[in-house]
Amino acid sequence: PNRVYGGLADQDRIFQNLYLGNSKKHGTPSYDLKTAMKIGDWYKTKEILLKGDTWIIDEIKASGLRGRGGAGFPSGLKWSFMNPPGWNKNVGPRYLVVNADEGEPGTCKDREIMRKEPHKLVEGCLVAGRAMNATAAYIYIRGEFYNEAVILQNAINQAYEAGFLGPDACGSGFSFDVYIHRGMGAYVCGEETALIESLEGKAGKPRLKPPFPAGVGLFGRPSTVTNVETVAVAPTICRRGGKWFSSFGRERNSGTKLFCISGNVNEPCTVEEEMSISMKELIDKHCGGVKGGWDNLLAVIPGGSSTPILKKETCDDILMDYDALRDAGSGLGTAAVIVFNKQADVLRGIQRLLAFYKHESCGQCTPCREGSTYLSKMMDRFYVGQAQEKEIDKALELTKKVEGHSICAMGEAFSWPYQGLVKNFKPLMIERIREYKRQNGLEDGGMQY
Ligand code: NAI
Ligand code: SF4
Repeated sequence: PNRVYGGLADQDRIFQNLYLGNSKKHGTPSYDLKTAMKIGDWYKTKEILLKGDTWIIDEIKASGLRGRGGAGFPSGLKWSFMNPPGWNKNVGPRYLVVNADEGEPGTCKDREIMRKEPHKLVEGCLVAGRAMNATAAYIYIRGEFYNEAVILQNAINQAYEAGFLGPDACGSGFSFDVYIHRGMGAYVCGEETALIESLEGKAGKPRLKPPFPAGVGLFGRPSTVTNVETVAVAPTICRRGGKWFSSFGRERNSGTKLFCISGNVNEPCTVEEEMSISMKELIDKHCGGVKGGWDNLLAVIPGGSSTPILKKETCDDILMDYDALRDAGSGLGTAAVIVFNKQADVLRGIQRLLAFYKHESCGQCTPCREGSTYLSKMMDRFYVGQAQEKEIDKALELTKKVEGHSICAMGEAFSWPYQGLVKNFKPLMIERIREYKRQNGLEDGGMQY
């Protein structure tokens, strides 16, 4: 909170054609290779490739880049798992898998990249693939993103025609192919092992980890699953240097970042900003402020639906980064900021999210399958107030039992929003129950279960 934010200059934006905030500059989408090259894509890519795997990974490590899919795992370290000491390059294929199955409610940043700057992703596949000594990249794209898949395929075709991909990519001697695979609309296929299963033609159900994909991944081969944004920023980091990227934000939270801001703001948008910008500045500068003004703010979900909701008092001087949001009891997640003003109903918001998780649970673990169904039903009743006050803590206890007891992070994903709601809005939940009781002349919140 004591940091002075200087503002991200236009020339320091990696994505030049996304929405640039209140300035209303949307830029010209660089679908085609010519326009993409004009804004710096594919510039000296051959030289980056020739510098080799260790050089690229060292630059990514120096940049401090952390996975932009939501978990924030250090990217350089993760990519280095593909090249363990003594690995044998003659033993078969190895894959980069790009996670473009963006499904976290509130999140729409990867969609923007694929829509408007697809060449950044295609070039990123090549650079990240070189770093990992991968032979090919599979981009697993969300089924609903039909137009984006078409735009992306077109960019890939152009890259092949220009000799940037294929047996001698960019004339570097490195052979690399890029394929697109369209998903079928299941949220859980964004989980990396479910995504791999789905790519292999099986039902998209998460696998237990370890083994991590770098050990046993796609088709049983060493693989790394990485988010679109993480891959798309890699070429610029290599061109401008890891140090340049790490000069933005603060230690452990460096770089620029795409933020998607939705809900009760005057102008919802996806914008690239410096990491560790304050939430208030992000919303005021790029979204024309909260509807009704900052004082009319009620709550914010700061990083996509699985990060716990925060009340206004916490948001007043919070920084948008991994550490600050974790310390506040939430997380940066996908940096999808969902804003509730005082005219919105947070109980309705969380009710809808829990219904979503119930629907999307793949059902293979009991705590998630049964827990998400139970919690969603409970939340339906809390929303109208048709419950007993003691059930609020009962449901909370259930979420604590689910956490850490499921195969994938879905267990936490539906537990945390409810925990955040109880932590910050329990009085509102109680008031809703009492109001229902008053209106219906009931003794203790009506129906008993
Ligand atoms: P995670 O923390 O389990 O893993 C993060 C990455 O680091 C994975 O690629 C994993 O393989 C790797 N990793 C972690 N420990 C490792 C080790 N010891 N050795 C080798 N590799 C290791 O998190 P997960 O489950 O991949 O992602 C959860 C996050 O995803 C949530 O926080 C949520 O914000 C986000 N999410 C994003 C969505 C989107 O649409 N972008 C959708 C749903 C969730
Ligand atoms: Fe499936 Fe839920 Fe288990 Fe994940 S936690 S594997 S979504 S049942």
